Amino acid sequence: MAPILEIKDLKELARKRVPKMFFDYADSGSWTESTYQANETDFGKIKLRQRVAVDMTNRSLATKMIGQDVSMPVALAPTGLTGMQHADGEILAAQAAEEFGVPFTLSTMSICSLEAVAAKTQKPFWFQLYVMKDRDFINALIDRAKNAGCSALVLTFDLQILGQRHKDLRNGLSTPPKFTPKHIWQMATRPAWCMKMLTTKNHSFGNIVGHAKDVEDLSSLSSWTAEQFDPRLSWDDIEWIKKKWGGPLILKGILDKEDAHCAAESGCDAIIVSNHGGRQLDGAPSSIEILPEIVDAVGDKVEIHIDGGIRSGQDVLKAICLGAKGTYIGRPFLYGLGAGGKKGVTQALEIIQKELDTTMALCGRRDLNTLNRDNLYSIDGVK
Ligand code: FNR
Repeated sequence: MAPILEIKDLKELARKRVPKMFFDYADSGSWTESTYQANETDFGKIKLRQRVAVDMTNRSLATKMIGQDVSMPVALAPTGLTGMQHADGEILAAQAAEEFGVPFTLSTMSICSLEAVAAKTQKPFWFQLYVMKDRDFINALIDRAKNAGCSALVLTFDLQILGQRHKDLRNGLSTPPKFTPKHIWQMATRPAWCMKMLTTKNHSFGNIVGHAKDVEDLSSLSSWTAEQFDPRLSWDDIEWIKKKWGGPLILKGILDKEDAHCAAESGCDAIIVSNHGGRQLDGAPSSIEILPEIVDAVGDKVEIHIDGGIRSGQDVLKAICLGAKGTYIGRPFLYGLGAGGKKGVTQALEIIQKELDTTMALCGRRDLNTLNRDNLYSIDGVK
């Protein structure tokens, strides 16, 4: 087998191992996918400043995200249906992150439930919340996250309505999946994935099934869920959610300076500069393009994190130099999961860690916390 040296290698292996409809679910953006692509390519516009003859021994990538120790500032982003890339995907990814010393964020739309992940992990993980119309359900979810020992709530603010992804519609993706002869053929050509899926009962939204009492037919669960996202979500909602949760709160999906000011005012602990991995507003700028102006606007008031398009340790380093205190990877860990389960997620983290460490050294720095804009050249106005 070809060696796994970069995230791209995990992606290609996952493409071969995961049935097309589920691989496409991870590897897609909304409409023309221009924002999805820009998230990745805009990192290439930023150039690193090479330094020599600097002592490069005793390097450290350790830092803190929202006051919590991390071995490097790279968390696993919340991703729905993660258990479709690999059986028990959320549990395996959480275990890999735990062993690596980085945060794992469980999505509201996960296959494995809060309780299932808590039962199979030792340390607290983070929980991502979508605000839905049924506020009793949201209150119950927050209680469940507290009972599961979650140590941060990531509140997603950029999904009041769902963006359209053409690939999912063309593939007929639903939850739980409804299989046509074409899907069955795709799965039959991936026997390892099938065998693992057959040994698990988790094929639906684990956090929601028990609460969706009005849904008798589970096959309508995904349309029920899509109708539940609250289009009236407002800045005022942060107050009651913050009060109910009572712990560290991270606001996800900020891509605009004015929104960043409102977010900072809301009293959250951190914001994530994000366009949902290019899955919501196609045509929006990349996260890395917007990061510097958000740091300049509110970086002294709130901790700033970023996700979208991070595919290497160099990308992480560029985001840190531009003022992010933390980064998240979505697809890179999903590719790892699809390629090799828990081991694949660990490989994704190892690849990024090694690249980050080597890049930091070649930029003449030994401690990640000393990186800043001086380590970059300004290209195309991104810096
Ligand atoms: C996501 N994302 C996401 N975000 C969120 O807040 N809740 C969710 O349930 C999901 N689900 C989801 C599924 C899949 C398959 C992907 C790829 C993404 C967005 C995610 O948290 C993050 O913002 C992006 O994945 C970051 O971009 P990269 O790293 O995938 O390029």
